[in-house]
Amino acid sequence: MAALDGDPRYRAALARECNLLVAENVQKPHALWRGPTTYDFTHTDRLAQFAHDHGQTLRGHTLLWHQSVPRWLQEHENDYSSEALRELLQAYVTAVVRRYRGVITVWDVINEAVEDGETPGLRPESFWYRKLGPDYIAPLFHWAQAADPSARLYYNDYEAEAIGPKSDAIYRLVQDLLARGVPIHGVGLQGHLENGWRLEETHRANVRRLAALGLEWQITEADVRMPLNGAPPTESALAAQADAYGDLLELCLTEPGCQGFVTWGVTDAYSWIPGFRPGWGASLLLDEDFRPKPAYFAIAEALNND
Ligand code: GLA
Repeated sequence: MAALDGDPRYRAALARECNLLVAENVQKPHALWRGPTTYDFTHTDRLAQFAHDHGQTLRGHTLLWHQSVPRWLQEHENDYSSEALRELLQAYVTAVVRRYRGVITVWDVINEAVEDGETPGLRPESFWYRKLGPDYIAPLFHWAQAADPSARLYYNDYEAEAIGPKSDAIYRLVQDLLARGVPIHGVGLQGHLENGWRLEETHRANVRRLAALGLEWQITEADVRMPLNGAPPTESALAAQADAYGDLLELCLTEPGCQGFVTWGVTDAYSWIPGFRPGWGASLLLDEDFRPKPAYFAIAEALNND
């Protein structure tokens, strides 16, 4: 949001390059949910206005995330019974989804609820799991659907692009939700990748099994990071990055069920990677000076050929 407000080059790039926008942080619960029934929609409203002005749609991210529990709630968690918390949560989900009905057409209802590791289950340390018990996810989808019956409702997670323990656990989770009549429509695969990533059969098999459940899926947060250690990216690293992006888009264009392809930012000038993984970066399609990188042209070519 700081870049959107303060950097005209960033605004121009967003307006020029994207047909779908996602808030990086301002739409997370810690940002929107300011008190038990107090919500701050200022930033999301501005983003929605920007999207409207530029003929773009808005993707909702994210109604719930264990890393984004509002501080007032964490500090007062013992003041509320689980029934009271459930009611607050229902009111929150309802207010947010209803406010952007018809504007936000796809919602990440829950982000990263599944653990990492060899035998992942739901994250037991999550505030909401602790407070509401293991079946805290299904009601979120019901509430969201009641608030906007036409919204597409997603489960979103990282490192679930290939078949493996985590994507298996996500598959079982969404399969179970579907079997119980929970209105879930899709799975978001974040796509935070490391340079050198290539499309393999395992990625195709993973999205095919989601599509076979009748679900759609999206690449929701793509970026391809590379080690830099203070030096500019090499030509060969940029070429490898172009291959990775091109492959990821190919997955989306050639397999059933893909409903969107989103990168987590537009320019290396503003990316979460260097802050979270020191020494790494250059993960997006435009460089720090907003110049298109080889990956940009790989994406453009794949889209033009589609
Ligand atoms: C996860 C979240 C995003 C964002 C990124 C890093 O992938 O889903 O909202 O916070 O981490 O910034």
